Amino acid sequence: MAGVVITGRALVAAVAVVVAVLLGGAAEAQQLSPNFYSRTCPNLASIVRSGMASAVRTEPRMGASILRLFFHDCFVNGCDGSILLDDTSTFTGEKSAGPNANSARGFEVIDAIKTQVEASCKGTVSCADILALAARDGVNLLGGPTWSVALGRKDSRTASQSAANSNLPGPGSSLATLISMFGNQGLSARDMTALSGAHTIGRAQCQFFRSRIYTERNINASFASLRQQTCPRSGGDANLAPFDVQTPDAFDNAYYQNLVSQRGLLHSDQELFNGGSQDGLVRQYSTNPSQFSSDFVSAMVKMGNLLPSSGTATEVRLNCRKVN
Ligand code: HEM
Ligand SMILES: *[C@@H]1O[C@H](CO)[C@@H](O)[C@H](O)[C@H]1NC(C)=O
Repeated sequence: MAGVVITGRALVAAVAVVVAVLLGGAAEAQQLSPNFYSRTCPNLASIVRSGMASAVRTEPRMGASILRLFFHDCFVNGCDGSILLDDTSTFTGEKSAGPNANSARGFEVIDAIKTQVEASCKGTVSCADILALAARDGVNLLGGPTWSVALGRKDSRTASQSAANSNLPGPGSSLATLISMFGNQGLSARDMTALSGAHTIGRAQCQFFRSRIYTERNINASFASLRQQTCPRSGGDANLAPFDVQTPDAFDNAYYQNLVSQRGLLHSDQELFNGGSQDGLVRQYSTNPSQFSSDFVSAMVKMGNLLPSSGTATEVRLNCRKVN
């Protein structure tokens, strides 16, 4: 009898150990770590940094373009490099989705960095991780904060044009839509407002702000006429204007100062300061750059932790533009 009881207990214990190991293993697969490649690709951070430094030296806007790519990657089935996949004759991915077509840019910069990373550590580092590091470096090279990026993301084997169309906010979005689209990703309204500070760098095309500068009333009149000079009522759809009228290529808190003075470029930008729930936070960020910086960093880390749902097939792509 005693033997049976002991065996029963031992069995229960053994099952518990197996379950714990399985759960631990599953959790580990999802767990990102800053040291993920410290043995397998020790020079990763410096390769990405120098690739971004040379890209930003050639064109400061590239820091912005890469940051936007990362956002558009993470909001579509997690940060899995899905936006980097090219369309083929049999496959339509995210590059041709509405929010990306003729607007997402910087793919060659990621390709160039990937080539260098492959030369140093073959088949080891995901495109998704390279994009996460490159986005961080782009922000920092333009004068913004830096932070530790947890690594170990894997690349998707597919991409979703329909999810890109439905998950990414457009320039005409209302505050309620912005809050709910970020909420769908587990990001708070505060995260959304802090992440929107990314619009302190980069450029937007006339077609995305035309109706704001010609028809809206919550816009500074001299700012509207300034933007109208290069964004006519008809034509010039692709003409560019800087998001930040004060310091176009500096990652600072001027975006929020612009909102307070009704100089938001997109309708969606000005929605953050238009008598709604984010007005107080926008005012705080406009006068407290270190608070903006720290909220931006924590929201970037949160966004960077969005991963594909478990069970999704993944790999480390050899070429960021195509599955292995
Ligand atoms: C809150 C909702 C957002 C909307 C509606 C939005 C919309 C847009 C639009 C329409 C453009 C201009 C694209 C073009 O003209 O080609 C743009 C550019 C940009 N967006 Fe956003 N965005 C949002 C949030 C974000 C977030 C969260 C980030 C990053 C954390 C981000 C980073 C950027 C950057 C850096 C650019 C400039 C890109 C460049 O110059 O190439 N945006 N965004
Ligand atoms: C709009 O901006 C101009 C110049 O930057 C400023 O002089 C003017 O007072 C602003 N208008 C309003 C209504 O605040």
